[in-house]
Amino acid sequence: MRLLYKEILAKDQSTRILKFILEAKDIALKAKPGQFVVLMVKKEGERIPLTIVEALPQEGTIILIAQEVGLTTKLLAQMKVGESLYALVGPLGNPTPIKNYGRVILVGGGVGIAELYPVAKALKKADNHITLILGARTKEVLILEAELKVLASDFYITTDDGSYKRKGVVTDVLKELLEDSSGVYNFIYAVGPVPMMLAVSQITKNYNLPTVVSLNSLMVDGTGMCGCCRLTIGGRTRFVCIDGPDFDAHSVNWQELINRNRMYVEKEKEICKLYEKTTS
Ligand code: FAD
Ligand code: FES
Ligand code: MG
Repeated sequence: MRLLYKEILAKDQSTRILKFILEAKDIALKAKPGQFVVLMVKKEGERIPLTIVEALPQEGTIILIAQEVGLTTKLLAQMKVGESLYALVGPLGNPTPIKNYGRVILVGGGVGIAELYPVAKALKKADNHITLILGARTKEVLILEAELKVLASDFYITTDDGSYKRKGVVTDVLKELLEDSSGVYNFIYAVGPVPMMLAVSQITKNYNLPTVVSLNSLMVDGTGMCGCCRLTIGGRTRFVCIDGPDFDAHSVNWQELINRNRMYVEKEKEICKLYEKTTS
C-alpha cells in the first residue's frame, strides 16, 4: 500500500492526471485487464474505485492513473512517495473477456484512456486487428498516446478544441469508419465519460455491432455489499462492481446511470470546500 512513485502525466489549468506506482504484491499477482481496486487515502476518507492500469507481479507493484476531480483524488495526488494508503482492496470486478474477436475498435475518452490501455494490450496479445480512437478535451490532457499507438494498426486522435490532431469528438471518427466499411468490424469497446459511451452505443446499435462499455457508476465497498453501484441492465438489476464493470452497451439504462452519478455532486463540492477551509 506504500506509494513508490508518482508522476504528473498531463495537466492544464483546470485539472491534472497523475500516475502512481504502489506496493501491492497480492493484487499484482492476480490482477487481470479490466479489473479495479478500491482505495482509501485516509482513515476519515471515502473509498474510491480506480482501474488497475498495469500489474507488475515480479516487482509486486500496480500502476494506477487518476484524474484530480474532487477531494479524494486530490488527497491521493497530495500523497508523498513513501507514504501508505489507509486501505487498498483488489483486484475487484470481472476481467474483460479477452479473445480473438477479429477487427476491433477501441474508443477511449479523457482519463478513460488509462482504463482502455490494459484492455488494448491484452487484445493486441490475442492477435486482434486494433483500431484505436482516443479523445481528449485539449492536447495538454491527452495521456498514453505513445503507449497506445504501438498497439494499433489504425490510430486516431480527436481534441474538443482542435489543439491536437482532429478537432471534434471520438464519435465523429467512429461514424466515418462504420459508414465506410459497414460490417467489417467485429467488436467495439469503449471507456470514458458517460456521454461518450452513450454516443458510441447509439451509433453501434445502428450497425448491430457487439459493443462493450466499462461503466463508472458510484461505488462504495466494491464487493456487492452496499448496493450503491446498482443499475438496470437489460431490464435486470445488476451491481456494476461484481457483475461488471463491463456490460453490453446496448442493454444499459443510460439515464439511470447519469442520474445516479449526479446524486452526491453538490455534497461532494461542499465537503471539498469544508476540507480546504479546515486545512488552510
Ligand atoms: P468527487 O468530487 O467525489 O466526485 C467527482 C465525480 O466522480 C462524481 O460526480 C462521480 O461521477 C465520480 N465519483 C465520486 N465518488 C465516486 C465513487 N465512490 N465511485 C465512483 N465514482 C465516483 N478515475 C480515474 O481517474 N482513473 C481510473 O482509472 C478510474 N477507474 C475507475 C474504475 C471504476 C470501476 C469506476 C467505477 C470509476 C473509476 N474512476 C476512475 C472514477 C473515480 O472513481 C472517480 O473519479 C473518483 O471516485 C472521484 O472521487 P473524488 O472524491 O475525487 O471526486
Ligand atoms: Fe457496493 Fe457495488 S459498490 S454493491
Ligand atoms: Mg468524493
